[in-house]
Amino acid sequence: MLLTRRKFAVGCGAFASSAVADARFGFSDPAPADTHLPIPMLIDAAKQGNAVHLKAISGRHAFIEGKPTGTYGYSARVLGPVIRLQRGDEVQVTVENALDTVTTVHWHGLLTPGYNDGGPQQLIHPGKIWRPVLKINQPAATLWFHPHPHHDTARQIYMGLAGMIIVDDGSDNRLNLPRTYGVDDLPIILQDRSFDSDGSIGYDNNDLNALDIAYGARGDTIIVNGAIAPVAKVPASLVRLRLLNAANAQNFDLRFRDRRAFHVIASDGGFLAAPVAVNALMISPAERFEILVDFADGKTVALETGPDKEMGEFGRVAPDGSADYVAVMQFEPTAGSANVQHMPKRLIEPSVALPSSAVRRRQFILDSGLCASRPQASAHADMPALIGINGKPFDIGRIDVETKLGTTEIWEITSIGMAHPFHVHGALFRVLSIEGSPPPAHLTGWKDTVLVEDKAELVIAFNQSATRDHPFMFHCHILEHEDAGLMGQYVCA
Ligand code: C2O
Ligand code: CU
Repeated sequence: MLLTRRKFAVGCGAFASSAVADARFGFSDPAPADTHLPIPMLIDAAKQGNAVHLKAISGRHAFIEGKPTGTYGYSARVLGPVIRLQRGDEVQVTVENALDTVTTVHWHGLLTPGYNDGGPQQLIHPGKIWRPVLKINQPAATLWFHPHPHHDTARQIYMGLAGMIIVDDGSDNRLNLPRTYGVDDLPIILQDRSFDSDGSIGYDNNDLNALDIAYGARGDTIIVNGAIAPVAKVPASLVRLRLLNAANAQNFDLRFRDRRAFHVIASDGGFLAAPVAVNALMISPAERFEILVDFADGKTVALETGPDKEMGEFGRVAPDGSADYVAVMQFEPTAGSANVQHMPKRLIEPSVALPSSAVRRRQFILDSGLCASRPQASAHADMPALIGINGKPFDIGRIDVETKLGTTEIWEITSIGMAHPFHVHGALFRVLSIEGSPPPAHLTGWKDTVLVEDKAELVIAFNQSATRDHPFMFHCHILEHEDAGLMGQYVCA
């Protein structure tokens, strides 16, 4: 069962109680250290006539050796292919639903009209096929795709449905960035799971209690590309990691064990103006960052994650309940390969987004109905039932916002209850302020998802149309929050 360890914890006081912290241990069963990082199959759309076929299937996969469990995947036992798309191309996609349940496929971060977006209106019933035609017209970026059927998104992603998209516009070549897929350009899909003793990963929508929903599904074991604690052999040079947080709820606070510096080169919507040197990087559900890591010293090093600060004591990940960091995976540089050695000084200046050109300012209050350790949450001390935006839970029959095609707006996002990773479909934004300050350098590029602890102001550019039949969503990307109603819809014309 999912998160059974949490069932005894009730009410707000439990949030910081040691009982809860003690119950959240794990990361204790690392796989044998020789599990290689699985590299999802690459579909290079341009090399196959820009026709891409995906089939949502159920299968069995042994995350833990010898203990297979039921899973979902896109033409795979878990996860799906990495799809590379060329800017300027038109791609004929067929999505076949071979599951016994209804699904949708949403292209998270792709700029495409509402009718292609794969939101909760675009149901693909079992045995049916959906054929969107996607015109790729946005700068190079790392995107992803996942199901979006209302009330079942969290479960379907937890069961394994998620894949990565790489939009290529030629800038990798121009900038001489690492770009050999699976060699020095690696997809790193981060998730967490709880395994039963028989190795299964159950997720039962009927079995979720209020706290499962409030905290979101948080497992005690991290998986990378579907594998527990894998090892990646990499060239002893600059390596590009395309980090995707595809977890239901967990924020990963990443760093290398030796604390080496690395460089963030891109966020959700594409390249930053210049590489940003960091020693640690927080990545929230649905966010992507591309980083360059220098392995020229030839030393094996672990990538590790620390406590999810947004969760207080409950966010600890170390098996002993301490605030220690735990290994997510290892990198083993192999000698003799001469790949990219030099980092460009400049990348690509993002197009401007002037707050002064915004035609409107709107306010959104995201409320997960959870009392937490956050100061403003004290007003919500008895765990109100409401999970929604501006006091309203999601209603698929209600359009919440009407925007004008070709305009920008400022959206002010306020989180109540806990930090919410806020995501907008069909548009990209720049962070104008976050927690009352200008964004840190790695959050200054175009994005589609941002973790809002208290408050953020976003300058959003609306350049894709969406009608009432196929509106765009905006929501919290903690999937249990989204499914419970922390979502709204907008049209754009
Ligand atoms: Cu990742 Cu509404 O989507
Ligand atoms: Cu949320």
